[in-house]
Amino acid sequence: MPSYKNNSECKGWPKDVGIIAIEVYFPSEYVDQGELETFDGVSKGKYTVGLGQTKMGFSSDLEDINSLCLTALSHLMERTGVGYENIGRLEVGTETIVDKSKSVKSVLMQLFEDSGNTDVEGIDTTNACYGGTAALINAVNWVESSSWDGRYAVVVAGDIAVYAKGAARPTGGAGAVAMLIGPHAPLVLESGLRSSHMCHVYDFYKPDLSSEYPVVDGKLSIQCYLSALDACYRTFSRKANARKDSAASPMSLEEMDALLFHSPFCKLVQKSVGRLAFNDFLNASVEEVPRTYHGLEAFRDKKLEDTYFDKDVEKAFLSYSQDIFLKKTKPSLLLATQVGNMYTPSLYGGLASFISNNTGESLAGKRVLLFSYGSGLAATMFSLRITDDVGPGSRLSELVSSLSDLHSRLNSRTEVQPHVFAETMKLREETHHKAPYTPVGKVESLFPGTWYLTQIDEAHRRQYKRRPLISINNASSVSSSSSNLVKESEFMSTDLLPQDV
Ligand code: ACO
Repeated sequence: MPSYKNNSECKGWPKDVGIIAIEVYFPSEYVDQGELETFDGVSKGKYTVGLGQTKMGFSSDLEDINSLCLTALSHLMERTGVGYENIGRLEVGTETIVDKSKSVKSVLMQLFEDSGNTDVEGIDTTNACYGGTAALINAVNWVESSSWDGRYAVVVAGDIAVYAKGAARPTGGAGAVAMLIGPHAPLVLESGLRSSHMCHVYDFYKPDLSSEYPVVDGKLSIQCYLSALDACYRTFSRKANARKDSAASPMSLEEMDALLFHSPFCKLVQKSVGRLAFNDFLNASVEEVPRTYHGLEAFRDKKLEDTYFDKDVEKAFLSYSQDIFLKKTKPSLLLATQVGNMYTPSLYGGLASFISNNTGESLAGKRVLLFSYGSGLAATMFSLRITDDVGPGSRLSELVSSLSDLHSRLNSRTEVQPHVFAETMKLREETHHKAPYTPVGKVESLFPGTWYLTQIDEAHRRQYKRRPLISINNASSVSSSSSNLVKESEFMSTDLLPQDV
């Protein structure tokens, strides 16, 4: 066990504040996207190739936002061995609202009861898929502030992403991520480099409080996502360039070892890598264009704002950035393609995937660029620097080994036929906000250690229980042999490039 127990070594201003540990929870059942294509009667390849999705995790009526976050937080605390008394701030990011007043954070405080610790700052933050990032920023800012009392912060991001029948349904998913935040972190948030883009738009929103489903303008949401990406990258680059001396080459994707994105569906992420390459191309000097972008000169007069649906630009830069995508982004899409859009945890599921597909040695000293997007809209780009300290017992090696069971956990899920998935969606629809209500889902189908809803009483009070836990503390001993790995054909099996590139 590494030295998670307290921050007592940290006298004075905290150094290297960031993410120390990550725990990911996803549902134990999934529907295959290829099977779903057949069931929905759409053309073969639409979800698997067109959207880049392989499987979609979903929850029965046994799980709600409180249970997902209870599970992720319990697992984080058990795996790290940090006592609840050592947490001074707990932030929750979610857009899955079951109560307009009572926060998910307040429900999570049940877990602190035995420790006697009620002195825990932080509360819920909501704005579509962005809440987790707002929570992370709050937590890091607290540790770096004069209010910090020396204890850890925890960020929990969780959501159940479900859509009404139709084109958006295959872009659902569900899950939660819990992250331990503090000084001397293996993943350090680089200070002074964050860039945000926030504005008012109705691309995806949830005005009907009696329904779990959003109102979504799919095309507009894609345009908003890509324009927020452009805006954040422009500001991030300006801030990065301001820190360099004049002789240094300007900010480009070259500087980053990994590019991670909020992933509504994997194809959009691949297009986003192409989009950033297009930004670099437009920013490149006249001399550099023929050297680095040979054959793309014809696009030099294009303007970012005119090209969100320009197929020629998209194809050219998808093709140009193919190797960058494979090297710097694809390893982060394991959970995105296997579980789907988890909303607020999506980006952090990407971070966990990226780590689980690497070794401590291959991660040491790397820089990671992250883009968070929440409709409505709120977006932030930031970067992480990974520590060089990768020795035995180091926090980086613990982080890597704690995530080494991701592949085997994904492989241990149960496949459910699309008609069962559709019936489950119908049941959730019909029973959403019903009180009193007793869930009818099968407890045996949940992973060991999963919290679940047992009852909602006539006053809408929710009760939870936990399936007995099989120790997850020995995660580092979980084999990551090739038999445990998600098969390459199932890890974004599809050629994500359009067929005609
Ligand atoms: N084989 C291969 N590709 C195919 C096939 C096929 N048989 N059929 C269609 N496709 C491709 C299309 O060409 C298209 O690709 P392109 O965009 O590269 O041209 C892609 O599959 C999607 O098909 P469309 O018909 O264009 O779109 P659809 O009507 O299915 O809607 C959408 C897709 C908009 C993403 C929908 O699922 C949606 O609204 N999702 C929710 C909103 C969302 O995720 N927005 C992103 C940001 S906001 C957020 O995070 C929630």
